[in-house]
Amino acid sequence: MGGSNPYNEPAKYELPKRPYTITFLPLNKVVEVDPAQIPYSRDGLKGSILEIAMGHDIDVDHACGGVCACSTCHVIVREGLSSCNEASDAELDQLDNARGVGPKSRLACQAVANGSCNLVVEIPTWNRNLVREEHH
Ligand code: FES
Repeated sequence: MGGSNPYNEPAKYELPKRPYTITFLPLNKVVEVDPAQIPYSRDGLKGSILEIAMGHDIDVDHACGGVCACSTCHVIVREGLSSCNEASDAELDQLDNARGVGPKSRLACQAVANGSCNLVVEIPTWNRNLVREEHH
């Protein structure tokens, strides 16, 4: 699901103009992002880490469908954070509810890189573990 949350200010971001890569941890899967192919999927902001991941069959939880209304898409941008848009107040509010938040935490559906460098993004495993436990 794409779209935006009507209660939030629209997020400000700049789409990449040149190719870059995202390495997803702990999978260690490298995705080549081609600006001409964006969007790869319909989840989250166009060009966001979430939409690129989902478009490459990399599963990141996104309970609200990518509209900045939950915190399940929390990821840690280990490298390249400075090439991403600034987190909006709405994103920071949601991150307050996320588990294990640190200075490099972002919501994958709201973080859009401008392609000025490559990214290394860790998908926290606890989200996936929690979901698995709920199904038992
Ligand atoms: S999927 Fe809900 S905030 Fe990103």
